[in-house]
Amino acid sequence: MGMNREITAAMLSDARVMQDFIDEQVAAIQEAVGNDGLAVNALSGGVDSSVVTMLGHRALGSRLKTYFIDSGLMREGEPGQIFGIFWSLGIPVEIVNAADVFLRNLAGLTDPEKKRDGVSQSFYRDVFGKLVRESGAQVLLHGTNLTDVEETKAGIKRQHNIFEQLGIDPQQAFGYKILEPLVQLRKDGIRLVAQALDLPPKIVNRQPFPGPGLSVRIQGEVTAEKLGIVRKATVIVEEIFHILPVFQTMTILKGDRVTGIVGGKRLFGYQIEVRAWTSVDARKAEPAIPPTFILQDLGRRIPAEVPGVVSVVYQLTPKPPCTMEAE
Ligand code: XMP
Repeated sequence: MGMNREITAAMLSDARVMQDFIDEQVAAIQEAVGNDGLAVNALSGGVDSSVVTMLGHRALGSRLKTYFIDSGLMREGEPGQIFGIFWSLGIPVEIVNAADVFLRNLAGLTDPEKKRDGVSQSFYRDVFGKLVRESGAQVLLHGTNLTDVEETKAGIKRQHNIFEQLGIDPQQAFGYKILEPLVQLRKDGIRLVAQALDLPPKIVNRQPFPGPGLSVRIQGEVTAEKLGIVRKATVIVEEIFHILPVFQTMTILKGDRVTGIVGGKRLFGYQIEVRAWTSVDARKAEPAIPPTFILQDLGRRIPAEVPGVVSVVYQLTPKPPCTMEAE
């Protein structure tokens, strides 16, 4: 009872409340794991899983095993960058290269929901689920937040029933616990905790990046070639937008080809769609209207630097009716 009572960002801006919150979560993790138990968690580098990693490490030190599942759907250099940030904080992270598993499960899938399911199954059933079962850990730490719980109950989000997603029957796995230290918090509060735990600004202010990664930014089937194209174009878009404080940018490889001219010859090439959003909580969003030079940079640099791309468009419709991601 009272488990999901909200702790708001305003409450956490009181240093005493913040300290109590951190102390309570650390103590709860220590109690659940016991004196010589083990816990595991998956780190994506997003602010939620980063805060959970910090709390778990504070509570358990090396008795917390943190995995970074490299799905091959991340942005350029992302696994190494996150590994490096946590390494400099003294927290070891094991990168698990599972790109082939994800690509195999995504092969032939074009429907956006089936693609999301392919990513979920790859993550929970095939990769992380297996690691959790083999680790011998008694506790799994998970970054579920209050908005996740509400959206799951309202049927908006895919289920957050972690046991089921991991293919673990809680009855059989008696004694196996899942702790959700952030379940009373929302994103703005979690960013404050991240700051209080001395996570670097790169993590504290990190733009949201969807779990299914670049797979929801490729329309149609996900292939290694298309991942290469969208990943390269994403680097350019993030570089160009880096001077504007937008909520989120996204770079989408469109499903249809368009006719272009490259080296004086006709090329039936790729089209990239760029989206940049202003938003408070992603429930509603407005497209950012960038200055002309930014639009011109996008239009010129992407085709010049990403072979095969002959056209760039910019998305102008608010959410709703548009969603933020294209799929
Ligand atoms: P939409 O497209 O629903 O996006 O307007 C709203 C916010 O949610 C993120 N998003 C996801 N995050 N898994 C995630 O972890 C998903 O499947 C997913 N789909 C959308 C999106 O990036 C935006 O911030």
